[in-house]
Amino acid sequence: MARYEKPDYWTLRAKKEGYPARSVYKLKEADEKFGLLRPGGGVFRVLDLGAAPGSWSLYVLRTLASRFQNGGAFLAAVDLAPLSREYGSHTHGGHEYGKDLFAGDHFFFVQGDMMNQAVRDSLASRGPYDLVISDAAPATTGNRSVDTFRSLELAGTALDYAASFLRQGGSLFVKVFQGGDAPALLKKIREQFSAGKSFKPASCRSESFETYYLGLGKK
Ligand SMILES: C[S@@+](CC[C@H](N)C(=O)[O-])C[C@H]1O[C@@H](n2cnc3c(N)ncnc32)[C@H](O)[C@@H]1O
Repeated sequence: MARYEKPDYWTLRAKKEGYPARSVYKLKEADEKFGLLRPGGGVFRVLDLGAAPGSWSLYVLRTLASRFQNGGAFLAAVDLAPLSREYGSHTHGGHEYGKDLFAGDHFFFVQGDMMNQAVRDSLASRGPYDLVISDAAPATTGNRSVDTFRSLELAGTALDYAASFLRQGGSLFVKVFQGGDAPALLKKIREQFSAGKSFKPASCRSESFETYYLGLGKK
């Protein structure tokens, strides 16, 4: 087994807690530090870009289900790949979530390209949103400048979704590969939000050059 594939602490913990991927802890850390999933008035609406296999979506659905006792939350998600639907009603590791969180009117998933206009329209029609999260990442080539450029295109698209479909006061949490024009993206976030920050969760692999940008309080 290659070193990169060896299950680590976060992978094993994700398995135990019923998430398909270790990436869930990056969102969890940001939520705990910055209060991203903070119920306000009315239905709390979240848009998850690059959502497969579905750990972030599940974290949002589980967290909002526990914070809003009687619904009041909605999640829309998109990915090129399908979700690992079996985790929606996960029962491994002694956790029993009862119902299928991926089923029902509180959740919408579209399999497609987030840069596609029809996909964008279907997500726009379900907004406006209180929070846009994007873990979208290109299939890496090993060429760092190509990978960084593609990641920036996706992160720029996520900022564009946020600019168009976030409510005033809403937040953005977006993955970006460090390098290239990444600082220019953070500058744009700072122009459009009351606060813009760079945040590298402890659960990111130490050798990874990914980081996350946050926009808090859309102007
Ligand atoms: C790191 S994974 C996301 C993991 C996810 N947050 C989770 O917790 O399960 C990155 C995802 O971005 C998706 N992606 C890349 N480019 C995309 C695009 N143009 N449109 C939609 N999804 C895209 C990939 O298919 C991949 O599933």
